[in-house]
Amino acid sequence: MAFARKPAYPKRADPKHADPKHADPKHNVQAARQAYYDRIARHDMAPLWEKLRDLISNEPKTHCAPAIWRFKDVRALVLESAELISAKEAERRVLVLENPALRGQSRITQTLYAGLQLILPGEVAPAHRHTASAIRFILEGHGAYTAVEGERAIMSPGDFVLTPNWATHDHGNPSGEPMIWLDVLDLPTINFFETMFAEHLAEESQPVLRADGDSLAFYGSGVLPDGTPAAPNRSPVINYTYARTRPILERLRNAGALDRRHGARVRYANPINGGWAMPTMGAHLALLPAGFAGENYRATDGTIFVCVEGEGATRIGDETFAWSAGDVFVAPPWRHYAHAAARDAVLFSISDRPAQEALGIWREID
Ligand SMILES: [Fe+2]
Repeated sequence: MAFARKPAYPKRADPKHADPKHADPKHNVQAARQAYYDRIARHDMAPLWEKLRDLISNEPKTHCAPAIWRFKDVRALVLESAELISAKEAERRVLVLENPALRGQSRITQTLYAGLQLILPGEVAPAHRHTASAIRFILEGHGAYTAVEGERAIMSPGDFVLTPNWATHDHGNPSGEPMIWLDVLDLPTINFFETMFAEHLAEESQPVLRADGDSLAFYGSGVLPDGTPAAPNRSPVINYTYARTRPILERLRNAGALDRRHGARVRYANPINGGWAMPTMGAHLALLPAGFAGENYRATDGTIFVCVEGEGATRIGDETFAWSAGDVFVAPPWRHYAHAAARDAVLFSISDRPAQEALGIWREID
């Protein structure tokens, strides 16, 4: 009979002439496993044990790279964009700051988007709202506004402006000079959850219902309008002005309240409950006094920094980035960094720390 000519199992081959594939029991195991993987793949299944070490690492692994965008290099490029497209046509005329290790993904860290926005005198960026939250940190110009839920915040350098989740916002520039600011949004986070909604208002600009500064006066002065809800998850203040915040850094310095990693630093807080200004993004403003040599620090939140005043340098991992006013740089999650300033410097910073804290996963270490 034909089948009787072959043994049921291959004979042990003479090692000199053996096919190494068949001789190697390891290969047989691999081949059997691969055949199994191929069969389960047809049912949209995969073996966890092949991926376990990638999925569960002993420490955070990041795909982000440290990077810097120097204002003296990028400012002219931002201004040049006005020759190519109007703010209205673009809806938002922004150059995205893409992490060099995450190009094409419109993000500066895995969870945050950042961009430099330009609005020229007379231009309007039309009213819309979306489930992504945004902040503006003003780099150059005076007198353009961001309107948020009926209040126009007139902006100046160093101002920190909020447009929270689903808050209607538009921008306009009635001043005589271009304005440039840094936008930071939680876009990658919202799109990770696949929860983006957006809509455009019929009118280009929303009606003005309150005076500039009303929200800061109503909610940021140690008193609250009677009947204010006690636990909003975002701040009612629309503009934390630099004029108001900067002198507090001096007071902290004079009081000797200097953190050995962060300098004299304040946290932008929700004045109603002391929490973060927004649930997905948290920001700080820090004064590094002349001669400051910060100690090494790291935390699980990748952090975007902006130099507002002065100059200095930050070592991130084994690279050192010198910075001056208007520069934006990013430190990846869980990467050591240390700031130094030869003369007084002010650094703004923002990260996804509130979201990590809400999930119970944020950690820091000296
Ligand atoms: Fe927007």
